[in-house]
Amino acid sequence: MKGIALKNNIAVKLLALIVLSLVVSTLTFLFLGHHFSFQFWTDPSHYAGNLVMKYNSIILLIFLISIGIFIGIFIFPVNKKLTYIKYLTNQVSRISEVHELGLAVEIKGNDELAQLALSINAMSRELQRKFERERENEKTKNELITNLSHDLRSPLTSIIGYIDLIKRNKFNHEDELTEYIDTIYHKSQNLKKLLDELFEYTKLSNPGIRLDYQEIELGGLLEQMIGEYLPIFEREGLALQKDFPREDIEIDLDVEQMVRVFTNLLENARKYSIKPSEVRVSLNKAPDHVRISFINGVKKLPAQQPEKLFERFYKEDSSRTEESGSGLGLAIAQKIVELHKGSIGVEYLANEIEFVIELPLSQYSGFTLSGSSRFEHEF
Ligand SMILES: Nc1ncnc2c1ncn2[C@@H]1O[C@H](COP(=O)(O)OP(=O)(O)O)[C@@H](O)[C@H]1O
Ligand SMILES: [Mg+2]
Repeated sequence: MKGIALKNNIAVKLLALIVLSLVVSTLTFLFLGHHFSFQFWTDPSHYAGNLVMKYNSIILLIFLISIGIFIGIFIFPVNKKLTYIKYLTNQVSRISEVHELGLAVEIKGNDELAQLALSINAMSRELQRKFERERENEKTKNELITNLSHDLRSPLTSIIGYIDLIKRNKFNHEDELTEYIDTIYHKSQNLKKLLDELFEYTKLSNPGIRLDYQEIELGGLLEQMIGEYLPIFEREGLALQKDFPREDIEIDLDVEQMVRVFTNLLENARKYSIKPSEVRVSLNKAPDHVRISFINGVKKLPAQQPEKLFERFYKEDSSRTEESGSGLGLAIAQKIVELHKGSIGVEYLANEIEFVIELPLSQYSGFTLSGSSRFEHEF
C-alpha cells in the first residue's frame, strides 16, 4: 500500500516474526538439548532404567518446549492483529446503523490496518455529513410544502366559496355579482403571483443556476427604476429621495435578477411604509464593494429578530392585508444577492427600517477613486 514504510508493511512484519520465532525456538532447542546431553552423558548414573528411552523422552520434551516458544512468539502479536481486525469489523457494522453514523474507530499502530482504520473514520464522517444534509433537505422541503399548502388553501377556499355563491345565484343584485367576480379575480392573481414567486425561488435554489453577467452602470440603473416608481410613490403619499455619488459605478451584474431585487425592496417600501413619509435610497462606493441602502418609515417594526424577514413565507401578521404578498420577496432577493457573492441585511432604526445590499465590485470596474463625489438630493 502506498505511503507505508517497508517496516510497517504487514507482510514484512509477518516474515520477520516467523524468522524471529524460528531463530529463538531453534536456539532454545540447541541450548537446552546441548546442556542436557552434556549432563546426561557425563554422569548417566543419575538416571535409572532404560537410558536411551529416558534420553529420547527428555529430548522430545525439549523439542516440544521449543515448538511452544515458536508458537508463543508467533501467535501473540498475530492474535493482537486478529483481535483488531475483529474490532474493526464490528465497528464497521455499527457505523451502518443510522444512530451510530459518525462513529470513529480507534487507530492502532502504523501499518495497513491503521490506514484502513483512518479510511473507515473518513468514510464514517462523510456518511454522517451526507446523511445530515439529506435530512436537512428533507426538512426544508417538508416545510416548504406545509407553508405552500397553507398559503394555497385559504385563497382557493374563498375562490370556491364565491364561485359556489354565483352558481347558486346567491347574490342580490348585479353590483354584488361584480364584487364577487372582482374578489375571485384578485385572489386568482395573488395565487398566480405566489406560484410565480415560488417557481422563481425554486429556480434560484437550484445548485446549477448560472447568472447572466453584464457590465452596467449601477447609478444609472437605480435612477431609472426610481424614476419609474416616482409617480406610484407620490400617489401613495411617499416622497422618494435619492443620495447617489456623481461618478459612474460600473459593475458586473445579472441585470434582470438585480432589477428583481430592487423591485422587491421598492415594492416593500411602498407597501409597508407609514404614509405620508419619505423613502430614501442611497448608493455608496467602497474600494472593493458598493453599498445600496433603502430606508423607509414604519409604524411598528416587523418581527423581533430582523433576520426573520428573510425567511421563506415570513409575513408579519399586520402585513397580511390585501396588499401582502407571498412572503417570498426578501427570500428571493437574498438568494439573488448571494449568487452575486454579495450580502443583504436589515437594520432597525428608530421608527425606520433599513435594507442594505453590499455587492463586490468587478475587477474590471471602471470606477476611479479620484474625482470629487457630489451627492444629489432630489425628488
Ligand atoms: N420595507 C419594509 N418595511 C416594513 N416591513 C417590511 C419591509 N419589507 C419587508 N417587510 C416585512 O417583511 C415581510 C416579508 O417581506 P417579503 O419577503 O417581501 O414578503 P411579502 O412582501 O411578500 O410579504 C413583510 O410581510 C413585512 O412584514
Ligand atoms: Mg415583498
